[in-house]
Amino acid sequence: MEEVVERVSARVPDWQTVSGVKKRTSKAAAIHEIVHADEARRITPDKELNRVLGGGIVPGSLVLIGGEPGIGKSTLMLQLALNMPDTRTLYISGEESEQQLKMRAERLSQASKADCFILTETATQHIFKQINTVAPHLVIIDSIQTLHSAHIDAAPGSVSQVRECTAELLQFAKETAIPVFIVGHITKDGAIAGPKVLEHMVDTVLQFEGDRHHAYRILRAVKNRFGAATELGIYEMQGSGLREVSNPSEILLSQREGNMSGIAIAVLLEGMRPMLIEVQALVGNSAYGTPQRSSNGFDTKRMNMLLAVLEKRFGFRLSAQDVFLNIAGGLRVEDPAIDLAVIIAIISSQQDIPVSATIAFAGEVGLSGEIRAVNRIEQRIAEAEKLGFETIYISKYNTKGLDSSKYQISIRAVAKVEEVFQAVFG
Ligand code: TYD
Ligand code: MG
Repeated sequence: MEEVVERVSARVPDWQTVSGVKKRTSKAAAIHEIVHADEARRITPDKELNRVLGGGIVPGSLVLIGGEPGIGKSTLMLQLALNMPDTRTLYISGEESEQQLKMRAERLSQASKADCFILTETATQHIFKQINTVAPHLVIIDSIQTLHSAHIDAAPGSVSQVRECTAELLQFAKETAIPVFIVGHITKDGAIAGPKVLEHMVDTVLQFEGDRHHAYRILRAVKNRFGAATELGIYEMQGSGLREVSNPSEILLSQREGNMSGIAIAVLLEGMRPMLIEVQALVGNSAYGTPQRSSNGFDTKRMNMLLAVLEKRFGFRLSAQDVFLNIAGGLRVEDPAIDLAVIIAIISSQQDIPVSATIAFAGEVGLSGEIRAVNRIEQRIAEAEKLGFETIYISKYNTKGLDSSKYQISIRAVAKVEEVFQAVFG
């Protein structure tokens, strides 16, 4: 796949030729003289972004924002460029014209900020010249796939071009301590080389995800040299840009009418925050020979595994039935604590017995139908209680050291899936 390229000229960093940007010199320093990076972090007005970055922007850091086209990467970055207080920002776009960007900025309805600069340019040599002129405190590149460097003879978007441009930006960020955000497109299957090859070069990789047809978006830290890689931020895409979602359980507020079968509520932890999510299942007799299996927001392989457990261990005859699974809000869930709600929703639909809307579930399901412990159960219980649930089902193995008298909510500890079935469906 990798194309052979010849270096056109030896690389002399282009920003060194002009004097606007101060270059750091490299010399050894005593460890006690080194200032902790946290003290120098730039706190953004976007709390979700701060959280995902591990507490603001680290000087000289190179941050990659990956995501499918149309998910909202440009919106997120332009919002950042427009809102950073006391920070000269330079937003460089190779995708949109100045007019388009101006219109978008107006749509984001921010009071116009004097120190936000826009550049539509794709050649790194020109970009560095402009950086020298503007001398920004924060640089945003949208997108890395549109850039090209004269140092390399390959098409924009090719692996070697993307890598070269990133290397130049990396060197720039490290030598000037100016943080750089780069946007990278990833296709649905994630297969395209593009940003994938960059993940090891950058300090932080953030993934922006969600279903384009839904409003909720998740910004997930996939890699972070300066913070926990488990953090995530949640946004809602509105007509006037991205709104921070500080209470994730608001996604739960679904449009449920009466007591319907096929619905179960899971208590999840996304990053450090608990949230309640509605799992919807639809099970029906297959109209054709091969039953259909599809899931939105939940790993299909894992769903098939849970279906096999239900079939093999508990005799539910699902193999000839269509099974559709959907996670409300268009979110993709990775927390295994959702398993219990998934199988409850499936059986609820198959048996056409609704689950009371006052019950929540948090448990992983193993291959023999055992309910396994999940992390930070207290936080989950507290969240379910806060949202007015009356009962929560958890694993028996989660009860060690758990003081259930602290809670109003009734905690049912179960070891096996059949115990839950009996309690919920009678
Ligand atoms: P965009 O940021 O252009 O996505 P990306 O850079 O990841 O390709 O945003 C894509 C979608 O967001 C687009 O379909 C329009 C929508 N959108 C809103 O709903 N509200 C807004 O305020 C903006 C700017 C965009
Ligand atoms: Mg874009």
